[in-house]
Amino acid sequence: MPNPLSAAPGPQSPLGLGVLLDLLRTEPWDLLYRYAQTYGDLFKIDALHLTALFVNRPDLIETLVDSHDMFVKRTPNPSTLPFTRKSIFATTRPLWAETRPHHPYAGEHAPLVFERMIPALVDVVTEHVRTMGRGPAGTVDLYPLLVRMSYDAFCTNVLGQRTSDATYIRYLRLIREVTTRLKTNGTTLDPRFWWVLRRWHQEISEVVDRRFQQGADAVAPTDALGFVTKNGTKLPRDILKDEVSTMIVGGVHPVATALSAALYNLCRYPDEGRRVMDEVRDVASRRDLRTLTLADVKALECLDRFADESMRLYPPVHIIMRAVLPGKVGVLGGYALPANTEVVFSPWVMHRTARYWEAPLEFRPARFAKAPAPYTFMPFGVGERTCMGQPYARLCIRIVLATLLTEANIEVNVSKPLALAFGPLIIVPKNPLHGQLSLR
Ligand code: HEM
Repeated sequence: MPNPLSAAPGPQSPLGLGVLLDLLRTEPWDLLYRYAQTYGDLFKIDALHLTALFVNRPDLIETLVDSHDMFVKRTPNPSTLPFTRKSIFATTRPLWAETRPHHPYAGEHAPLVFERMIPALVDVVTEHVRTMGRGPAGTVDLYPLLVRMSYDAFCTNVLGQRTSDATYIRYLRLIREVTTRLKTNGTTLDPRFWWVLRRWHQEISEVVDRRFQQGADAVAPTDALGFVTKNGTKLPRDILKDEVSTMIVGGVHPVATALSAALYNLCRYPDEGRRVMDEVRDVASRRDLRTLTLADVKALECLDRFADESMRLYPPVHIIMRAVLPGKVGVLGGYALPANTEVVFSPWVMHRTARYWEAPLEFRPARFAKAPAPYTFMPFGVGERTCMGQPYARLCIRIVLATLLTEANIEVNVSKPLALAFGPLIIVPKNPLHGQLSLR
């Protein structure tokens, strides 16, 4: 007989005010980590009249993400809905199940498309390095540069073209707005927001329509839209447009966070950094990085493990949620959860738990020589609703790092720990990522 949720351990205070006070003082990922140290792998969190369950056990996370008759990924989130609209990010079954297999990054063709994206990715990064490297010498904040580089890479790989600076500024406004809406529970403080949002969707829409009007012009398309126009898609045009928009809005910032953490760690752990640099520069001395295949990228073992270890310690998405289906009672870890109860797990906490990771706070890329135990490494989530962009994001991070290390000397100020703040659904560097990037 399952116990009532009220019997679960967890921080106690009248109306859960203690949790709210803790949240004012501590970032949510650190707070969950601290609670997990005190209350273990499963605890309840009370805040005002709501009670959520936090789980940090691989078997419970597996049950949570795979028991579709009990738990659901509750979408749409009202704060992000204007951005995600009808994309799979924001849909629930049955529409989600109908559309996900037809996402431009789904299906057997996807690896082929990703491989063909590599030359353009290398070109975008090289161009950025050459522009930045010629700028005035001195320390700059590298994070905005990485955001712009990721944005240009995504636009090239998804849309087949870069956008104007004005469109990029609109993108930044939208991303700022996601953060504000999340913090203020869905309200907007920016009166121009709706206009900017309409312009953004209009521009994506025009690019998609134009590509279809032009028809398939390439024998071997090198971007997601090119592939879709050549091979056709079962997605209705309006949903395709929302997917395309979400691929950019949902992917650019987490990739930039992952790159920031990787550059920080390259300089913070110089021996590991040197290993990656030697590996990449050795390959680049023998061949053009633009000719790498997916298998070649995977074979860059030091780079691969370094990127994974960096994401283990700094997963851009720190929290993932599911909820008990309306009208159902969920059972998890011996507790009965009333309908609509939120259940939360955290890549940040799991990746730092000593029961599942040896010396979890140490930076040891070699640990990835062995595949991690199931449901213990999840920067991209787990289960059927795992990140749709995972293979692309992993490739993008590796190619950007490889190209940066080949083209530039990078110095990041690592005198202080990498402080993080809550950004647009993800974590972002809290302070400027002071560093220098000069042409090699
Ligand atoms: C470092 C980069 C990225 C990280 C860390 C990341 C992480 C995540 C996480 C944790 C989830 C939630 C999974 C869950 O609820 O179980 C997710 C969902 C998703 N991500 Fe990503 N993501 C990244 C990049 C991208 C990119 C490049 C795309 C572009 C296609 C993308 C598209 C999506 C979509 C469409 C979903 C929703 C999938 C669904 O609900 O079926 N992400 N991502």
